[in-house]
Amino acid sequence: MTLGERLVEWFLGSRRDLPWRRQRTPYTTWVSEVMLQQTTVDVVAPRFVTFLDRFPDIKALAAAEEDDVVAAWSGLGYYRRARGLRRGALAVVERFAGEIPSDEEALLSLPGVGPYTAAAIRSLAFDLPAPAIDGNVARVAARLFDDDGDVGSATTRRRLQAHLFPHVPEGCAAAFSEALIELGALLCRPKDADCSACPVAEFCGARASGRVSQLPVKRPPKRARPVLSARGWVERGGSLLFVERPVDASLLPGFLELPGRWGPEGEEAPDVVREVLEGLGFDGVCTYEPVAEARHAITHHRIRSVAVRADVAGPAPRGCRFIPWDQVDPERVTTETRKLLQAREATA
Ligand code: ADE
Repeated sequence: MTLGERLVEWFLGSRRDLPWRRQRTPYTTWVSEVMLQQTTVDVVAPRFVTFLDRFPDIKALAAAEEDDVVAAWSGLGYYRRARGLRRGALAVVERFAGEIPSDEEALLSLPGVGPYTAAAIRSLAFDLPAPAIDGNVARVAARLFDDDGDVGSATTRRRLQAHLFPHVPEGCAAAFSEALIELGALLCRPKDADCSACPVAEFCGARASGRVSQLPVKRPPKRARPVLSARGWVERGGSLLFVERPVDASLLPGFLELPGRWGPEGEEAPDVVREVLEGLGFDGVCTYEPVAEARHAITHHRIRSVAVRADVAGPAPRGCRFIPWDQVDPERVTTETRKLLQAREATA
């Protein structure tokens, strides 16, 4: 028997009786997989049943008020998932006539559906060969293929999925995908893997290399670097000075922001602001004290933004605009600048 056949045979003989396995449809799969993303099977099981009583199909969920969906999510936590699910249901009704698509790209275009949920729906509900890789399946696969890549990285997850593909037995894609989930939950556990009971121990690379307890490899997240973002606060007759980010900027093209730049903590914000405003083409720049401060975090950076009041002489150079306070479109400013505007409003 092949690895895939062994796994499926084991699963069919020892799977737990769980409510979403009794009524498999694309909709029940979507709901249960989203619920199971950050919550344990024991907590999800009863709540999945009541949720389905309340919203038996995708149309019922799409038609529901957000507050009702969030109320029905009670006890599961991470309520953003409930809102995302409802928005996804609305999109399916509006864009796919209420039929959850099986196509990967179509699924990924839905709000709240990422690579894991898309693969889970495709494999478990449509029986397509698309092993769904969450943290538990990544652990199982990393051990099976003795792969010491960082399981937190998308590259490793894609490689593991590619390793799994050829093992999906013909016509058994759903059972294969769920068997991996079950193996991770019952036997191939993080700390005390029960290799003696494992149906695929003889195929396991980590068992052969003696690395079961060393795999999977998880790199600790990179420490966020502290950054000072110094911004000029230049008011003139009820207007505030903004610069427009270049339309070809890789980050936030065309967005408006207060003039300034990032630099290492330790620089003096007024000095940086003067340098930036002079660089933009203003002459006669005077900087004064900070008027607003805000904090903001993005990948690998912890940003402290400081807005410093400044007077400038001369007209606004290219790319800079004075915009009246009440005409600043909050959708067009960067999050960092929006936070500074709000901080200023709160203290002014
Ligand atoms: N965790 C995520 N998906 C699951 C499933 N289908 N069955 C059991 N646990 C799961």
